[in-house]
Amino acid sequence: MRIASIVGARPQFVKLAPVCRAIAAHNASGSGNIHHKIVHTGQHYDPLLSEVFFTELEIPPADVNLGVGSGSHGQQTGRMLEQFEHFLLEDKPDAVFVYGDTNSTIAGALAAAKQHVPVAHIEAGLRSFNRLMPEEINRIATDHVSDLLFAPTRTAMDLLAREGLSQRAVLTGDVGYDAVLFNRELAARKSQIVGTLDLQPQHYGVLTVHRSENTEAGKLESLLDSLQSVAAQGMPLVFSIHPRTARLLPDATVLAGRYPDVRLIEPVGYLDMLQLVAAARMVLTDSGGLQKEAFFLDVPCITLREETEWTETVQAHANVLTGIDGRRLVAAAAGWEQRIRGGEKFNFCRAAGMPFGDGQAAGGIVAETVKFLEQRR
Ligand code: UD1
Ligand code: UDP
Repeated sequence: MRIASIVGARPQFVKLAPVCRAIAAHNASGSGNIHHKIVHTGQHYDPLLSEVFFTELEIPPADVNLGVGSGSHGQQTGRMLEQFEHFLLEDKPDAVFVYGDTNSTIAGALAAAKQHVPVAHIEAGLRSFNRLMPEEINRIATDHVSDLLFAPTRTAMDLLAREGLSQRAVLTGDVGYDAVLFNRELAARKSQIVGTLDLQPQHYGVLTVHRSENTEAGKLESLLDSLQSVAAQGMPLVFSIHPRTARLLPDATVLAGRYPDVRLIEPVGYLDMLQLVAAARMVLTDSGGLQKEAFFLDVPCITLREETEWTETVQAHANVLTGIDGRRLVAAAAGWEQRIRGGEKFNFCRAAGMPFGDGQAAGGIVAETVKFLEQRR
C-alpha cells in the first residue's frame, strides 16, 4: 500500500510527525506494510520554518521537494498543482494525505482528485465562516474534493454534516493534540529557551502574528501599540516573528524605542515553542495551532482575530477573541490577570470534556485509511 503525504508549511510538519509515527507503528505491528512518501512543496523553505521541524520531530526527510517557494496564491498553488501532478503520475500512490488549510493542502487535494487518487484530509471540517481568509477557501474546497475527511472534533463533524459530507467523515481527534502529548515532556527536558532568553516563568507572554488580515499595511503597527500597552503592565511579550511579518516591521532601533516591552525573536523550533508556551502567563496570537497548544497546556489565550475555527477553546473560556481592537485586547488581558491573580488554576482540556480526542488521532487515521483502501480493492 502506497501513501503520499503532501506538506509545505510549518504547521503541516507538526501534523505530519504523529502520522509518520503511526505509519511506523502500523508497519512494525505486522498488519501490512505502508510505503509512505513525503512530498514537500517548498512553500516554507527557511530552515527555521521547515528543516528544524523535520529534525526535532524526527520526521523522515522528504522524498521529493517541489521547491515552489513564495508567490501570489495563483502562482504558488499553480506551481504546486503542476509539479505534484507529475509526482502522482510517476509514483502512482494509492492515496494522498493532505493536512490543514494551506495552499499546499488545496494543491495536493486538487491534483490528486483529478488523477482519481483518493484524498484523505487531515483536519477536515474546520470553518471560520470568513471567506476573506485564504485558508477558508482552501478548507472548503479541500473537504469537498476529498474522499476521507478526518475530523478533529465533534464540531467539525457537525459542520461537515451541514455540507452533506457526513458519509466521508470520521471523528479521529486532533493530530495537533497527539503532537503536544508526545512532545511536552521532551520539550521540558530538552528546551533551554526560557533560561536562554532570561525569562521569568509565568511572567511573560508569547506573541505571534502572521495572518494575512493582520499583516496588511497600517494594521500591524497599531496592533503593536496595543500590545505594548498590555506588555507594559508587567508582562513583557516575546514575539516570534514569521517572515511575512518581519518584512513589515520598522528597523530594530525604531522598534526598541516604540515597543520596549515587546521582544522580537526569530522563529523557534517546535520544542522551544512548546516550552515557551508552557511557562508563559498568556499567549497572544492569530495562529490556529498556538490557540490549541495554549489550551492543551492550560495557558490563557487571547486570539487576535474576530473569529476562530477552534470554537471549543472559546466555549471552554480558555480563549478570548479580540481581533486587533486595542480596547478589547487590553480588556481581555486585564480579565485574564484578574483570574490569574485570583489564584484560579486552569485545566481547560478536562473542563471542556477533552474535545480534541485522546492523543491517538494519527493511529485512527492510518487504520481508517487502510480499511478504506482494502475495501476498494
Ligand atoms: C502560510 C499559510 C497559512 C499558515 C502559515 C503557517 C497559505 C495561504 N497560508 O502562510 O495558512 O498559517 O503558512 O505559518 O497557505 N516567507 C519567507 N520564508 C519562508 C516562507 C515564506 O520569507 O520560508 C515569506 C515570503 O515573503 C512569503 C511570505 O513569507 O511571501 C508568506 O509566505 P506564504 O507561505 O505565502 O504564506 P504564510 O503567511 O507563511
Ligand atoms: N511554531 C513554532 N515556532 C514558532 C511559531 C510557531 O514551532 O516560532 C509552531 C506552533 O507551536 C504550532 C505551529 O508552529 O505548532 C503553528 O504554526 P503557524 O502559527 O505558523 O500556523 P497556523 O497554525 O496558524 O496555521
